Amino acid sequence: MKALETNIVLIGFMGTGKTTVAKALQQRFGMDIVEMDQIIAAREGMSISEIFASRGEAYFRDAETHLLIELQQRENVIISCGGGTPLREVNTAEMKKIGRVILLTARPETVLARVEADHGRPLLENNKDLSHIAAMMEQRRPRYEAAADVIIDTDGKSAEEICGEIAETVCGTGEAE
Ligand code: S3P
Repeated sequence: MKALETNIVLIGFMGTGKTTVAKALQQRFGMDIVEMDQIIAAREGMSISEIFASRGEAYFRDAETHLLIELQQRENVIISCGGGTPLREVNTAEMKKIGRVILLTARPETVLARVEADHGRPLLENNKDLSHIAAMMEQRRPRYEAAADVIIDTDGKSAEEICGEIAETVCGTGEAE
C-alpha cells in the first residue's frame, strides 16, 4: 500500500460524508486522520453544541482557524474539516497550504437523512427540514467551491468508490499503488 503523496483536506456541508470518507482513506492509504471538531471539543473539554452555547460561534470559528494553521506541520494526513470551516476566507487560504482540498457534495435529501437522528450539530438543531438545509447549502456553495481543488458528488456512492475517485484525481490512478 502506497500513501497518497499529499495531505487531503476534506470539506463539505454537514452530512456529506467527510468522516466516513476520511476513515476509508485511512484504511486504504495508511494515513492519519485529524477530525477538527473532535480536537476542538477535546481541547475545550466540551461538545461542539456546548461550545456554541457557552462561547458562541465566533469563538468556535477562531478555534478552527488556529487549528488549521497548526496543522500545516503535519504530513501523510487526512483532515476532516467541520462543515463551516471554509466559510472564512482565511481558512481557505490555510487549507490550500496543507494539501489538496476535496469538496464532498450530496443532495439536501441525502444530507437530511444522514443528520436527522443526530443532536450534535447546533446549526441544524430544530432546523432539520429540507428547505432550510437546501437554502443553507445554496448560501454556502460559493465559499465551498472557492475552497475546492476537486469536487466529488457522493450521492449513491460507497465510501470505497469515493476513495477511488480521490486517488484517481490526486495520483491519476484508482489504485494509487
Ligand atoms: C458546522 C458543522 C459541524 C461542526 C459545527 C458547525 C457547520 O461539523 O463543525 O456544528 O457550520 O457546518 P460537521 O460538518 O462534521 O457536522
